[in-house]
Amino acid sequence: MSVDTDSNKVIIFDTTLRDGEQSPGASMNLDEKCRIAEALEEMGVDVIEAGFPIASNGDFEAVNEIAKLVKNSTVCGLARSGRGDIERAADALKPAARPRIHTFIATSPLHMKYKLQMEPDEVYQHVVESVSHARNFTDDVDWSPEDGTRTEHDFLCRCVEAAINAGATCINLPDTVGYSVPEEFGGLIRMLIERVPNSDKAVFSTHCHNDLGLAVANSLAGVEAGARQVECTINGLGERAGNAALEEIVMALRTRQDAMPFTTNVNTEMITKASRLVSTVTGFTVQPNKAIVGANAFAHESGIHQDGMLKNANTYEIMTPESVGLNESKLVLGKLSGRAAFKEKLSELGYDLGDNAFQDAFRRFKALADKKREVFDEDIVTLVDDEIVRVNDRMRFVSLQVVCGSVGPQTAELTMEVDDKERKTKSTGDGPVDATFNAIKELTGCSARLQLYQVHAVTEGTDAQAEVTIRLEEGGKTVNGQGADTDTLVASARAYINALNKMLVKREKTAPSALSA
Ligand code: KIV
Ligand code: ZN
Repeated sequence: MSVDTDSNKVIIFDTTLRDGEQSPGASMNLDEKCRIAEALEEMGVDVIEAGFPIASNGDFEAVNEIAKLVKNSTVCGLARSGRGDIERAADALKPAARPRIHTFIATSPLHMKYKLQMEPDEVYQHVVESVSHARNFTDDVDWSPEDGTRTEHDFLCRCVEAAINAGATCINLPDTVGYSVPEEFGGLIRMLIERVPNSDKAVFSTHCHNDLGLAVANSLAGVEAGARQVECTINGLGERAGNAALEEIVMALRTRQDAMPFTTNVNTEMITKASRLVSTVTGFTVQPNKAIVGANAFAHESGIHQDGMLKNANTYEIMTPESVGLNESKLVLGKLSGRAAFKEKLSELGYDLGDNAFQDAFRRFKALADKKREVFDEDIVTLVDDEIVRVNDRMRFVSLQVVCGSVGPQTAELTMEVDDKERKTKSTGDGPVDATFNAIKELTGCSARLQLYQVHAVTEGTDAQAEVTIRLEEGGKTVNGQGADTDTLVASARAYINALNKMLVKREKTAPSALSA
């Protein structure tokens, strides 16, 4: 087989569900992963890395379910070089229409000596055996030299050549620790393509971490140098400072066709929805000034800019908000709106809810419309996401009554459902938030440490919904939870309970030894 390296099409390989989930606190349950996979497929992502099947039963199940669900995109599972890892990935991928195994081993002197405690020849042997073994299960094998950018060039070339000879169809170059700079990273891709004799038989790929804020620049330099696959994540989620952000790669290629004549299959108008979904599910809010998907990415505050925009939008806008699926904030429904109008609005916003979820969402919409004078698209999106995120929760918020103000003691009377049984308590605290969280701790016996408590308003106005993010830590594991409501304390309780539910999921996961990717 010979790969068309002249093609200008760049394959988008999304690893939000694998590398993205490795961000501390970003765990997702099965339903959430399936929803994200569906959104990625709908958006036109070519390859979805759905997880690391040997890592836990939860990861196996997620890859397996996504393999059943996804029809058009390739579904990929990660594996270290051992036969057990590869067979577990192959098992999980069995139902996939287009299965891919992504296998890796570290090749840098540092990683080989200290982490793997292997000699280079032993690592080389693993490369050959892992790729050959993976090819017993699928024709689509992606091989990565972990810490590739800190690997000696001669050894890297030997390993890449061996991987291609053994049947790898894609060679992915990870900048595992985000150390590279664009010229160097592009140079490395070019060097591999030029020096490795069988390089025309594989697609070269980038996998850049963002420790120096260079992940997107490095990936694009890789594409310029001949890579035709970019591994990236929605919102740049990923280990430590994250990975190259999918939305930035795709929009840079779309906007700067003149400088970078490459195309992708991604329907960019679905970017905002995917970004919101990932942010809601993981509890990782997007910074306001984040490129493409930040709340301010298309906002024009200063008088000079506003004046220019009114005269000609091109003065300060290099891409339109509509091109990333950001439409003008619309006043939608009011308290007199009925089920049919609500359903139509949901479908316009891209939601297709089952009967129960629809009834719950409608009930919450009516309650919101009663309290809030104007209901916007953002309100509906927040409300529905909040509802969907909780579908499988074992602990549920029922009601909260708080006494607060300058005359203490501040008290919180809380009712929750735990495994379908109602529990009530009344607690005091140092302020209403503390009293509410104490009540939750009392009802659940939770001992996790609160690391982050953040509130943001979904829309303008004092009647806006509050969206609260909570981060909890327990035994070195962190989880993020989110909650929304017009009452900040109710939103806080919902967020705390959501984080606790995620902690339960995390406790059930067992980490494999020496996970390093
Ligand atoms: O960053 C890394 O090296 C990885 C590999 C598994 C591709 O995530
Ligand atoms: Zn990585």
